[in-house]
Amino acid sequence: MYQILKKRRLSENVVLMEIDAPYVAKKAEPGQFIILRVDEEGERIPLTIAEYDREKGSITIIFQEIGATTMQLGLLEEGDCLHDFAGPLGRASELEGLKHVAVVGGGLGCAIAYPQAKKLHEMGAEVDLIAGFRNKDIIILEDEMRAASTNLYICTDDGSNGNKALVTDILKQQIESGKKYDAVIAIGPMIMMKFVSLTTKPYGIKTIVSMNSIMVDGTGMCGGCRLTVDGETKFACVDGPDFDGHLVDFDEAMRRSRIYKPQEQSAIEAHRE
Ligand code: FES
Repeated sequence: MYQILKKRRLSENVVLMEIDAPYVAKKAEPGQFIILRVDEEGERIPLTIAEYDREKGSITIIFQEIGATTMQLGLLEEGDCLHDFAGPLGRASELEGLKHVAVVGGGLGCAIAYPQAKKLHEMGAEVDLIAGFRNKDIIILEDEMRAASTNLYICTDDGSNGNKALVTDILKQQIESGKKYDAVIAIGPMIMMKFVSLTTKPYGIKTIVSMNSIMVDGTGMCGGCRLTVDGETKFACVDGPDFDGHLVDFDEAMRRSRIYKPQEQSAIEAHRE
């Protein structure tokens, strides 16, 4: 059983949990994920590792209470236990050798962009962290992101934090002002990652995206997470989740991510009853 050591609410429906999972913590690297089940009957859900502490033997996850399982997870408190917590799964992000990087996070994606930025910053890279949110009330991890970057740009869709812009506007401004990035790392909604990739393509800047596809087993067996990259079928759980954003078929990936919407909605309604 995997005990919840710490629970912190980051915004109205975004929760951070630190979980006691020493074997996962021993091997975890940025970019990897875990699959958990709240109880024996529960659905398996993948969540990216937001932070790990090898000494303490803990893993931090950050999730939005958006579906039936994440709502159920959000009801647990410190001291409660999760039934399964398997990982680390997927390939670690390849960050070696990067010196000037823009890390772009969108909404909850910032919870995953943050550890990537932190690792790069610790490795001595110059990191521009560009974080976009719908409004100022859902901004998360501002202090942590500031500490993990050389420059932090936070923008909102509605301008409620005083900086109305899209992450792609800021990225383009930085590139056009002469910043020479070795790579751009984009993590967030697929539509955002698609447009970040379209923004960097004309400049030929390597762009890495983290594909948050639907997952079931997380081991390459079920095919749930498949996507097309450079005309070939790949599995986000074993070949990714990081891929070259200029080669991903985002339109197909977005269509696939919507196929279980009716089932998700009825699971949410059942959870609320
Ligand atoms: Fe089943 Fe990737 S989650 S193949």
